[in-house]
Amino acid sequence: MTTQPTFAERLKADTRATHDSVDNLVMSVKPFDSRANYIRFLNLQSVFHKIVDDIYKNPVLNQAIPDLAQMARYNAVVQDLNDLNQNEYTFNGKLPEPQGNKAVGWLYCAEGSNLGAAFLFKDAKDKLGFNENFGARHLNAHPDGRAKHWREFRRHLNNLGLDADAQNEAVEGAREAFAFYKTALRQIFGLAEDAEATA
Ligand code: HEM
Repeated sequence: MTTQPTFAERLKADTRATHDSVDNLVMSVKPFDSRANYIRFLNLQSVFHKIVDDIYKNPVLNQAIPDLAQMARYNAVVQDLNDLNQNEYTFNGKLPEPQGNKAVGWLYCAEGSNLGAAFLFKDAKDKLGFNENFGARHLNAHPDGRAKHWREFRRHLNNLGLDADAQNEAVEGAREAFAFYKTALRQIFGLAEDAEATA
């Protein structure tokens, strides 16, 4: 007998390839090799987290996912930019406004990004000297620890009770979130519109 994958397992499986292309594209622009590149990376993070900020603060989702609003990292990214005497970047184009089940997919993408952020946080510390109190606040781990928090978060996603159609929409939203991240990265780092990592 085969068991159906959970919603969280589906999200992971159905976005693995696009995640890895994002991971590779981020590393290809060497965000931690210089202060200037790191500022570009913060600009990218600020654009992405600005889009998802309303989702983190959505009252209905906050009833289903305890403390969701406190997990938002947009303010922390803006503080990181301010630490480096930078104003916020203005995205050239219309920002997506994800709604409904698609917004759940965007939320998955944003919250999951805090797992890989362990590596980015280490690089920001080791290579550039930033930390949770200056310049790399938004990359800090959840107080419960990244892995434990992620297990809890996935449990809450599974308990949202989304049916198959709703889950499909959420997966679509997650794919859009990863795709948008690449679009914003290319704009901010001055790459061609369809650039992918070559390595
Ligand atoms: C260089 C950049 C990145 C690296 C090295 C990286 C690395 C990783 C790693 C190693 C994991 C798995 C951790 C684990 O299972 O314990 C992970 C998970 C994840 N990352 Fe990334 N990541 C990067 C960028 C991003 C970005 C920019 C996003 C979102 C826009 C993102 C979204 C996610 C999500 C949603 C997961 C959770 C997958 C799941 O378990 O369902 N990552 N990342």
